[in-house]
Amino acid sequence: MKRILLIVGGGIAAYKACEFVRLCRKAGISVKCVLTDGAQHFVTPMTLAALSENQVYTTLWDLKDETEMGHIQLSREADVIVVAPATADLLAKMTAGIADDLATTLLLATDKPVVAAPAMNVRMWLHPATQRNVTQLRSDGVTVLNPDEGSMACGEYGPGRLPEPAAILDHLHNHFRVDKILANRHILVTAGPTHEPIDPVRYIANRSSGKQGFAIAAALANLGARVTLVSGPVTLPTPPGVTRIDIETAQEMANAVATALPADAAVMVAAVGDWRAETAEQKLKKGETAPTLHLSENPDILALLSASPRRPKLVVGFAAETERVIEHATAKRLRKGADWIVANDVSGDVMGGSDNMVHLVTADGVEDWERMPKDQVAHKLAERIAHAL
Ligand code: C5P
Repeated sequence: MKRILLIVGGGIAAYKACEFVRLCRKAGISVKCVLTDGAQHFVTPMTLAALSENQVYTTLWDLKDETEMGHIQLSREADVIVVAPATADLLAKMTAGIADDLATTLLLATDKPVVAAPAMNVRMWLHPATQRNVTQLRSDGVTVLNPDEGSMACGEYGPGRLPEPAAILDHLHNHFRVDKILANRHILVTAGPTHEPIDPVRYIANRSSGKQGFAIAAALANLGARVTLVSGPVTLPTPPGVTRIDIETAQEMANAVATALPADAAVMVAAVGDWRAETAEQKLKKGETAPTLHLSENPDILALLSASPRRPKLVVGFAAETERVIEHATAKRLRKGADWIVANDVSGDVMGGSDNMVHLVTADGVEDWERMPKDQVAHKLAERIAHAL
């Protein structure tokens, strides 16, 4: 990562954008700044021009030669666009695709990764409208960092502070790291739910969204691994650089996993259906009494893989539990022959949500990780896998 386009929104945290630019320059990264009208009430173009040693842009109309489509060019010549502070208003406009000034036009015209670092009053951050926008932006592929928690300029306390400039830069370094420490490694990831048919139109499924597994596949690919992602039915885009195999049932997942071997590591994140039903050939009709489902057990893909002669060097399982999380995960690690179990409590809003709080259970003991976005859990786990290999 050599070039950043920094979009500064109009909030008190805009002063921290100055520090961010200084840190980038110190790290040898070139920065071009765009200020919204609001941002200019907090910092001046002059300050950012001096710190960035670059021209600062404030309106669509000061791009000199629009015959060359200056706004398109500006939105694409950087390696990444950083929005800091990303105000509630900017996030809302980004979500809706509104392009009514230079900043929002660039954000709509870009084909580069966008990282938004939110900063706003705690009520504004927690407002359902903002939360809805953040969820939408994340599923559109925008990286929205979680704001820090603490006391705010307005005197209130809670989440809404701009992440520290150094933390934003760290995130970018991780994303763009050049030392691809997993190059030449093949890693198998399973993700999502399975669908076990009852008849041609009905099936048994579960609430897994696939988000955590997809984030892990993306993080591993980001470290240079060749990743095969065996996925149940989900509505997520395939992460860049990942080979995806779509399946529906546990049996199909087991076959796809076997076909994808050999692998250096396997991370089994899928919520595999434990049972499959005897499938009726025709749609079951409503009658006098409800039909009885005859269930049989599905293959345990993780256990089979752990016991297989083609076992990857590192086998990681997941344990979604609603009670006695550590105890169950510890037993599961031994029972299934996995090297590590990533355990999480899914009694709250984890399934389908954006955050996760996990415990890493290994032969050495248990590590409690703090609650963080699923993509940060993924990055941390990918780093650990890289070191273990
Ligand atoms: O037994 P339980 O479903 O809680 O185990 C969870 C772990 O085992 C996950 O890593 C999951 O992907 C894996 N698993 C599997 N095949 C199954 C059931 C679970 O690979 N049939």
